[in-house]
Amino acid sequence: MIEPIKFLVYCTITYAMMIYSSVFLQAYLIYSSSVAAGAQSGIEECKYQFAWDRWNCPERALQLSTHRSLRSANRETAFVHAISSAGVMYTLTRNCSLGDFDNCGCDDTRNGQRGGTGWQWGGCSDNVGFGEAISKQFVDALETGQDARAAMNLHNNEAGRKAVKGTMQKTCKCHGVSGSCTTQTCWLQLPEFREVGNYLKEKYHRALKVDLLRGAGNSAASRGAIAETFSSFSRKELVHLEDSPDYCLENRTLGLPGTEGRECLKKGKNLNKWEKRSCKRLCGECGLAVEERKAELVSSCNCKFHWCCAVKCEQCRKTVTKYFCVKKGGQRGKNESAGSRKKNLRLRKKH
Ligand SMILES: *[C@@H]1O[C@H](CO)[C@@H](O)[C@H](O)[C@H]1NC(C)=O
Ligand SMILES: *[C@@H]1O[C@H](CO)[C@@H](O)[C@H](O)[C@H]1NC(C)=O
Ligand SMILES: *[C@@H]1O[C@H](CO)[C@@H](O)[C@H](O)[C@H]1NC(C)=O
Repeated sequence: MIEPIKFLVYCTITYAMMIYSSVFLQAYLIYSSSVAAGAQSGIEECKYQFAWDRWNCPERALQLSTHRSLRSANRETAFVHAISSAGVMYTLTRNCSLGDFDNCGCDDTRNGQRGGTGWQWGGCSDNVGFGEAISKQFVDALETGQDARAAMNLHNNEAGRKAVKGTMQKTCKCHGVSGSCTTQTCWLQLPEFREVGNYLKEKYHRALKVDLLRGAGNSAASRGAIAETFSSFSRKELVHLEDSPDYCLENRTLGLPGTEGRECLKKGKNLNKWEKRSCKRLCGECGLAVEERKAELVSSCNCKFHWCCAVKCEQCRKTVTKYFCVKKGGQRGKNESAGSRKKNLRLRKKH
């Protein structure tokens, strides 16, 4: 027979667990579609930001929590974590402002307070605190380890959320007789998510390498040392533990495709500096040649509306030129490629 007191304890614990898991389950059901949409927007932004980089955010890099042994801890990993947690926070915050959740609305905690000369807080600020809390709950929960990699991922998740907060924009409305604007009320709005992506790409370029003593185990002491080391870095900065591999080269073990076969951009009116250098970066500096390929595009054009009701179009043909990285041919090519690889290494060391 079970002793009454033990039975009571047992019941209390079971009941508490039921409540806890149902609260968690409810939260899960309410937010999971937004969390998934947010993670997806992070991935899309990653692909946009790295479209003309040697590493171009391949699917393989985006599996945040599987196969520990295959996971890297370089600056690209840092970016993936930051943009994902930023995406989740951003989407939840936007959902909240659109009234998608019952338990969340504008952040009006500062309304009525003086903000600065001539303005005070008012209106409907996007509730980033809400998005931040839920993002933490979902994204950080994927880090179950207590090692340096887990600490790195959590740090970069946080940097992603700081990026959303840091790029928010103040929007104001004028008050006063016939718009004289003697006083203003202002609130904080989310920027376009692109702004967050641009901001984090800058942080990526300036990511900081964390040097931990080798052989740090999983003891309480080394966990403390890890926490202390990471807390000495600003939570706004991306951090990494390892150097990146050479993304020029194919490496099947690491799941890297290399840059052979990649398209790059050469001529075009609206190319920025980074895009204009893409052939050099993806092909030339990787010891590959640039190959020009012409393709014919057929599209509808000169469409005319005929009364009534048909649209007739002509077929227009346009030749477009595209550029791709290809292997250099012959012995001469091989020697050239060795030379340019060396040059590239020297260049990279200088910066
Ligand atoms: C939140 O927004 C995303 C993208 O706009 C959408 O896919 C998702 O369904 C929304 N979530 C809810 C609960 O409305
Ligand atoms: C692939 O990367 C691993 C780990 O950095 C390295 O040991 C190996 O030599 C690389 N393989 C090739 C073919 O470059
Ligand atoms: C190419 O490089 C090899 C060794 O790296 C060298 O022996 C050979 O002379 C070079 N060929 C040319 C044409 O420079």
